[in-house]
Amino acid sequence: MTKTTTPITADALYARLKDIRVGSNICLFTPEKCEEMAPLINSINALKAEKNAIILAHSYVSPEIIHGVADYVGDSYELSKKAKEDDADTIVFSAVKFMAETAKIISPSKEVLVPNKLNGCSLADSVTGENVRALKLQFPDHAFVCYINTTADVKAECDVCVTSSNVYDIIEAFPNDKIYFLPDRLMGENVVAELHRRGSQKQIEIYKNGTCYVHEEYDPEMIEFIRLEHPGVAVVSHPECSSKVLDHSDFVGSTSQMINHVKESDLSTFYMLTECGLSSRLQLEVPEKTFVGSCTMCKYMKSNTLADILRVMDSPDPEDIISLAPAIIKASQSCIDAMFHYAELAKKGA
Ligand code: 13P
Ligand code: SF4
Repeated sequence: MTKTTTPITADALYARLKDIRVGSNICLFTPEKCEEMAPLINSINALKAEKNAIILAHSYVSPEIIHGVADYVGDSYELSKKAKEDDADTIVFSAVKFMAETAKIISPSKEVLVPNKLNGCSLADSVTGENVRALKLQFPDHAFVCYINTTADVKAECDVCVTSSNVYDIIEAFPNDKIYFLPDRLMGENVVAELHRRGSQKQIEIYKNGTCYVHEEYDPEMIEFIRLEHPGVAVVSHPECSSKVLDHSDFVGSTSQMINHVKESDLSTFYMLTECGLSSRLQLEVPEKTFVGSCTMCKYMKSNTLADILRVMDSPDPEDIISLAPAIIKASQSCIDAMFHYAELAKKGA
């Protein structure tokens, strides 16, 4: 995505977004809604230039953010890389708080702002640094691997961090035969199954108390029903879904890998087992393809709004600014550095 700096009119915004037909109600656009949004978009884009700020947005946030003000849109690994590489003074992270914290750990000298009211994620909220310290006493020989959907306190206790785009490769490559994976129980079960398929002998312990409240909802019966209703449909899933769902899927990957798969596929109809922002995004980017199934919305991601982006850029409250203790930044940096190291190693080996 490129920076949107020329002012946009309400008509142009409506023309850009009117074709979204899948997704939640908040992703449906009318000329009146675009009249309200266009001035906000123009004010945000003007402030970005004034403050040397960039907006990083996850694919699950609302379309007016993705298509109106975002400089980069991607999955959690790509957004972390952008936070590392870009030389902006301020990063506005339109996603969830753990992603903004990760940006702060990677680039401590930058100001990192979070414009979402519901600062949560059912996975990141399921484990604390204190929980991990207790587990490390129980499993002293295990390497601790955390999903990126964790707070900085948790990352500070772990050896390496993974995202949905590299979880299998990093765990396979990490030089320890005993792994403790946290906090996503379903992703952990998928790791065990995938590493078994790859012939790995690693012993993997899984944290039991975390799931994504969006992805855990899907089940194989829903997939079978959709297949009956839409013969020839391709089922595309995220690794936060259960292993039963993955077994019934045609493709599994991170949000960006799912997008790339759909774009490259010869098939025409898709059932996307992930937050419905991905289907809305794809409907605009590949209008010739069809997306079926209902919307499952992440309330945390969808709590990002244009009004809050403008507000945090203009006059942030203390809770809108990511602030981490230097000791936590230092301790969590090695966990994230290890992720970049093993992820890039895996890419070279691929
Ligand atoms: P991705 O890294 O695949 O974008 O996943 C992030 C996430 O929170 C999915 O629920
Ligand atoms: Fe967290 Fe699930 Fe929302 Fe992703 S979709 S941010 S894992 S609650």
